[in-house]
Amino acid sequence: MNRPARVAFITGATGQDGSYLAELLLGKGYVVHGLVAGGSGPTNRVAGVHYHTGDLADGTNFEALLWDTRPAELYHLAAQSHVQLSFEIPVYTADVTGLGTLRWLEAIRNHRDRTGDNIRFYQASSSEMFGKVSETPQTELTPFHPRSPYACAKVFAYWQTINHREAYNLFACNGILFNHESPRRGETFVTRKITRAAARIKVGLQQTLKLGNLEARRDWGFAGDYVEAMWLMLQQDQPDDFVIATGETHSVREFLEATFNSLNLDWQNHVELDQQFLRPSEVDLLRGDASKARESFGWTPKVGFRDLVRIMVEADLLLARRELQIQTLVPETV
Ligand code: GDD
Repeated sequence: MNRPARVAFITGATGQDGSYLAELLLGKGYVVHGLVAGGSGPTNRVAGVHYHTGDLADGTNFEALLWDTRPAELYHLAAQSHVQLSFEIPVYTADVTGLGTLRWLEAIRNHRDRTGDNIRFYQASSSEMFGKVSETPQTELTPFHPRSPYACAKVFAYWQTINHREAYNLFACNGILFNHESPRRGETFVTRKITRAAARIKVGLQQTLKLGNLEARRDWGFAGDYVEAMWLMLQQDQPDDFVIATGETHSVREFLEATFNSLNLDWQNHVELDQQFLRPSEVDLLRGDASKARESFGWTPKVGFRDLVRIMVEADLLLARRELQIQTLVPETV
């Protein structure tokens, strides 16, 4: 007899990570449900996923969604995830990114009391929590020093996840993921902003690119690799917290150089520094040590920095060429 398929529920299902994770889980035979926000937002829809509407700032239908879908695993990826934006809308960010996690944890706890279901919970914690770092590389033991309303909200969610594990014995894990990118990355994050602009410059659709701090250093990996770590975390015997990172760090300037060089362009002819992209307080340097994940469940990143740049540039070049074609076919009407 066939075993019934496992059921997973993903919040932020149409975001970069949500879409890669959905594809991974569908490939493993899961039935996948996804939560999407009501308004406009990221739209990487994946065929085969059952989408539901919900809002982290609300939460009134979370228990009903668990009752209707009966997941074994819940991956909580949704958030107001833009660091700079969080300085402009700090209370909203705290509500959605911080309290939104608590709303899910409470829904899972109440659902267990009603049904006996022990839903495994993954919290998308962030390397931004390390902020003004006290040591490099950062590990699971490095103290947090958040530098933005977003990071403060993520610290709250991190501890709330641990508290639900300790107080109520929930199988709840924090994946402390360092920056991870892909062609599906939102266009306001720096890597995608750079590859998208460079490709458009290459085909003549744009001339300049406005950026902020070029000296910030990040540990950039490939999102497709990182969603595998999320799944592995929930397959362990015990819930725990893990850093997921490449162990390498590069500056925004290096990412810029690698991108423009790969297109035979000189970034210095196109990039303008713009104060509006500077943050009131910045995270200068992130570099993670993922030894614990490697030793516990064998996770290592497959895509390195140069390949990441190449993958993103190739995808954005295709997009820019398509955009150019459409502009040529449909001349602007006055
Ligand atoms: N977005 C953006 N736009 N960043 C810029 C720009 C610009 O024009 N110019 C320079 N930067 C610098 C930022 O100041 C920051 O130091 C760095 O580029 C990376 O910015 P983002 O790509 O916006 O990512 P982030 O590091 O702030 O946050 C991302 O990674 C976190 C994990 O560490 C987000 O995905 C978070 O949600 C995630 O938790």
